[in-house]
Amino acid sequence: MEALIARIVELEKKKRQKFPNSPDKWFWTVEEVRLPPYKITELMNKGILMKSPVGYRLINFDQYAKTAETDGSTDLKTFNELLDMIVGYDDIKELLRSSLKATGLHVLFAGPPATAKTMFLEAVASLDGSMRVNGEATTKAGLKETLLENDIRYLVIDELEKMPPKDLTILLNAMESQQIVVTQHNKRTVKELNMNVYAAINRLDKIERSIPELKSRFMVLTLKEYTPEELLTVDYHVLTKMEGIEPTLAKQIALTLIKHGFKDPRDAKKVAKVVKTNPTVEFAEKVVQMLKRYS
Ligand SMILES: Nc1ncnc2c1ncn2[C@@H]1O[C@H](COP(=O)(O)OP(=O)(O)O)[C@@H](O)[C@H]1O
Ligand SMILES: [Mg+2]
Repeated sequence: MEALIARIVELEKKKRQKFPNSPDKWFWTVEEVRLPPYKITELMNKGILMKSPVGYRLINFDQYAKTAETDGSTDLKTFNELLDMIVGYDDIKELLRSSLKATGLHVLFAGPPATAKTMFLEAVASLDGSMRVNGEATTKAGLKETLLENDIRYLVIDELEKMPPKDLTILLNAMESQQIVVTQHNKRTVKELNMNVYAAINRLDKIERSIPELKSRFMVLTLKEYTPEELLTVDYHVLTKMEGIEPTLAKQIALTLIKHGFKDPRDAKKVAKVVKTNPTVEFAEKVVQMLKRYS
C-alpha cells in the first residue's frame, strides 16, 4: 500500500475514534495530510477518495485499515516520498539514507531560509523511532528528561539556535558519549543511547565562535542560496507538483517571480493560491507586481 494512503488511514482512524458517531467529522483537509493537490486529483480519479464541502475521506476505509495492519512498516516509504519531494541535493539524500543505519552520526543543516532544511528534517521525523523537538520548545520537559523517557533513535531539532544553553550542553554531551548520566539519591545511573541527531540552523556563523563544539560534533552541510536557474526549477516544482498549476502557466509565474527578485519558493506558493482563482498569465503578472510594490 502506498505510504500516502497509510498516512490517510492513520489520520482517519484517529478521527473515527474521537467522533465514533459523527461521520461528518471524519473528513480531513489537504493541509492535514500535507498532500500535493495533484495527488488528490489522482486519488479522486482512481475512486479512492470521496469529497465533501469540509474535506476528503477514503471510500473504502475498512479495507485500507485492514491492509495497513498487515502491511507493517510504511515509515521508510514515507521518508523516501518526502525526500522525493525535494528538488536536487541527490548527494545529501544519499547521505541521509545511509545515515539511518549508523549510530552517532549527526547531521546539521545550515544556511539561509528556504533552502529545504526543514523539508529534510520532516523526512527524518517521519521515521519510526524519531522524535522532533523545536529549539525553543525543549525547555518544557527538559531535554534530559526527554532523552531518559524515550528511546530516541533519530532526534530532530529545527531552529537549533533557539535551544537554551542548558539543553544544548546536554545535547552535545549526549551526542558524543551516547549516554545520559543521572545522579539521584547519591546513586549514579547511566542510560545508553543509540541516537543520531538531525538539526537545522539559519546562521551557523553567528554561534560557531561561542559554541565551537557544534562544528566538531556534527557533520555540517551548509546549503547555499539558490542560483536563479535552481530557483526556477524549485519554483516550477512547487507550482506544478504542490499547487497543481498547469505547466505553461507555472513556468511563466516562476520566471516573473525571479525577474522581480523573489527568492523564497514560499512566495510561489502564495502567488499560486491567488492565481488559481483566475489562472491566466496576465493575472499572475499583476499579482506578482502588486506583491513587489507592497513588499
Ligand atoms: N529543493 C527544494 N525542492 C522543493 N521545494 C523546495 C526546495 N527548497 C525550498 N522549497 C520550498 O520552499 C519551502 C521552504 O522550505 P523549507 O524546507 O521550509 O526551508 P528552510 O527550512 O531552509 O527555511 C518548502 O515548503 C518548499 O515548498
Ligand atoms: Mg526551516
